[in-house]
Amino acid sequence: MTVKPYKKADSSKKQQVADMFNNIAGKYDFLNHFLSMGIDKLWRKRTINMLKHLDSPYVLDVATGTGDLALMAHKRLGSKVTGVDISTGMLKVAEKKIKEKGVQDFVNVVEGDSENLPFDDDTFDAITVAFGVRNYENLHKGLSEMRRVLKPGGRMVILEFSRPSAFPFRQMYFFYFQRMLPFFGGLISKDKAAYEYLPESVLNFPDGENFDAELVKAGMKPVIRKKQTFGIATIYVAEKIQ
Ligand SMILES: C[S@@+](CC[C@H](N)C(=O)[O-])C[C@H]1O[C@@H](n2cnc3c(N)ncnc32)[C@H](O)[C@@H]1O
Repeated sequence: MTVKPYKKADSSKKQQVADMFNNIAGKYDFLNHFLSMGIDKLWRKRTINMLKHLDSPYVLDVATGTGDLALMAHKRLGSKVTGVDISTGMLKVAEKKIKEKGVQDFVNVVEGDSENLPFDDDTFDAITVAFGVRNYENLHKGLSEMRRVLKPGGRMVILEFSRPSAFPFRQMYFFYFQRMLPFFGGLISKDKAAYEYLPESVLNFPDGENFDAELVKAGMKPVIRKKQTFGIATIYVAEKIQ
């Protein structure tokens, strides 16, 4: 089932996702840290740590948004990083942060679609995506494109929301995610649909072994799967074998 942010509009999911992130770009960073109570920073660190055995890999951060993961990859790995995203609003915020940190020679962002990446085959040593894959209109196409631009032997590290299963955490989490988060997110961002789309898209997205199966379908070999904070999010690591 395709979950779109704006139920009444008949534009494609991709267009709606770009519109939604353009709408909330200015408040995105604040809301991210506020609604996750800061835990997202720890998850991002752990995501980048999956690449720490590599010697300054050239990294592509897909669905880079406001660039937090791209900036962290540069900081922790000393890497050159390119971020790509379909939302011009999110990329503007990323560009401002890159400039403020003075890392323009190492981190850059470009507008582009994960389902049709503007890069040659076998370009990057590693690919990262945080909270992006769930928003792709065509997941298989997005993952296959990511595989195409990754060098043979390269690693893909994906951080995405998943669903906790243990009682009573599951119940508490769903109350927070389905009731409190849309309320506060809507109030602060003035785009309630965006924060209703978030839990709905998570509920309808493959997680755990089902997501690993999608990676396999796209020609990747899953090597690590690590639940974060009782399974609210999961880090998936897969390698390109050829
Ligand atoms: C929840 S944000 C995550 C941003 C960032 N990775 C982070 O961790 O904060 C999701 C991002 O995915 C981007 N996105 C969604 N579909 C995309 C696609 N097909 N290609 C590139 N970016 C996409 C959106 O524009 C948005 O910036």
